Amino acid sequence: MTTPRKAPELTVMSERHELAYRDGRLFMEGVALAEIAAEVGTPVYCYSRRALERAFGELDRVMRPLGARICYAMKANGNLSVLKVLDSLGAGIDIVSIGEMERARAAGIGADRMVFSGVGKADHEIATAIADGVGQFNAESAEEVALIATVARRIGRRAPVALRVNPDVDASTHQKISTGRKGDKFGIPIGQIPAVYRAISDDPALIPLGLAVHIGSQITSFEPYRQAYSRLAELVIQLRGKGLNVERLDLGGGIGIDYGAGASLDLQDFAAVVAETVGYLDCELTIEPGRRLVGEAGVLLTTVLYRREGLDLPMLVVDAGMNDLMRPALYDACHPAIPLSRPAELRPESCRIVGPICESSDNFGLYDGLPALGAGAMLAFLGAGAYGASMASGYNARPIVPEVMVAGDGALVARRRQSVREQIELELRPQPVPLEQRGARARQAGA
Ligand code: LLP
Repeated sequence: MTTPRKAPELTVMSERHELAYRDGRLFMEGVALAEIAAEVGTPVYCYSRRALERAFGELDRVMRPLGARICYAMKANGNLSVLKVLDSLGAGIDIVSIGEMERARAAGIGADRMVFSGVGKADHEIATAIADGVGQFNAESAEEVALIATVARRIGRRAPVALRVNPDVDASTHQKISTGRKGDKFGIPIGQIPAVYRAISDDPALIPLGLAVHIGSQITSFEPYRQAYSRLAELVIQLRGKGLNVERLDLGGGIGIDYGAGASLDLQDFAAVVAETVGYLDCELTIEPGRRLVGEAGVLLTTVLYRREGLDLPMLVVDAGMNDLMRPALYDACHPAIPLSRPAELRPESCRIVGPICESSDNFGLYDGLPALGAGAMLAFLGAGAYGASMASGYNARPIVPEVMVAGDGALVARRRQSVREQIELELRPQPVPLEQRGARARQAGA
């Protein structure tokens, strides 16, 4: 985070974000963001329904000719209002826990439209997912396949399974969000797939569906995709050559967006790589994007608490912290920032923006070209729709940040601000753990 991040030229980014200045005030669709800030308080996330629709439409347009289904990876943003918008557009859902399944169901999404991914599915999660009729498990290890089969037999149902392949491909992204290299914890090593696929095909408790791959997140070049999908295609041909049935390919997510530095993945290029590498196999295709569908549709609004002078650069201490938007602290990510109200006379400056949390990593980075802002001014961090609210925490006893959905001239509080009281509530009446009783029961059971 040593290079200052230029304040984005809003005319370039505004359309994708549904943001525009009118009379010096920043609007999302038809709503002045300062009004939301005044009403709900800051920090607060705001999402544009139209930007969500646009992002889905753009992806759908290039994937539909390939017959590919879009399964939204809800870890990027699991707010029910966001899920409902994407559901209404026809997206399926990629889930990674039974909690996410419950969330998706609360948004009215049927289990048959869900793909259950993740390296650590617990017995009870597998059981609930099978019983509820989940559309597909993406199994990540031979051990998980064995557990899915055991649980399926126990409850007398067959489980639909695809195998997640680790193709040993470097996605050339931040190392903390790379998932497809040999040695990463994700997926079954490509060399072991034939044996495990044979096993799922021979087990009457399992329905073998096909293969899945996901090599990482915020990928901005299509070369890693080409490598991974080519390896997947070779595998399909190899498995079919052994008489095994491979119907589906889940191509994962990872499509990168522009965080202001100009790098993103062109969707036409991505679709062309899909068509070229796996299009001829006559498989049902799925992709699992998260960030590409919601990232650009969201901003995080924050208020400047202090403007500090007398340092190498002016420092803005804002009321949003790493607990609200963790990406800068975790991945050195830098989210472009723009003021909610643009002063008539611009005095661009370089400054540092930091949060209120008691950690040095609570640092949004260096910014270049923002107008000089004083205490009380408000800012929007852009590109905050993905992995913003969904990764928020209550660290420093800060209530979980609220979320607002803007649509046209209206706005809904899509998640109200948690109160400190609600946080404390869980701790107010400490209950004894009934160790004695459990011991007695265990002794009885053993006797
Ligand atoms: N499918 C699987 C199996 C995944 O693990 C993920 C993301 C996705 C799909 C969606 O990836 P996307 O299209 O959103 O890149 N917190 C990090 C990103 C973590 C991604 C985890 N897996 C960040 O803020 O950059």
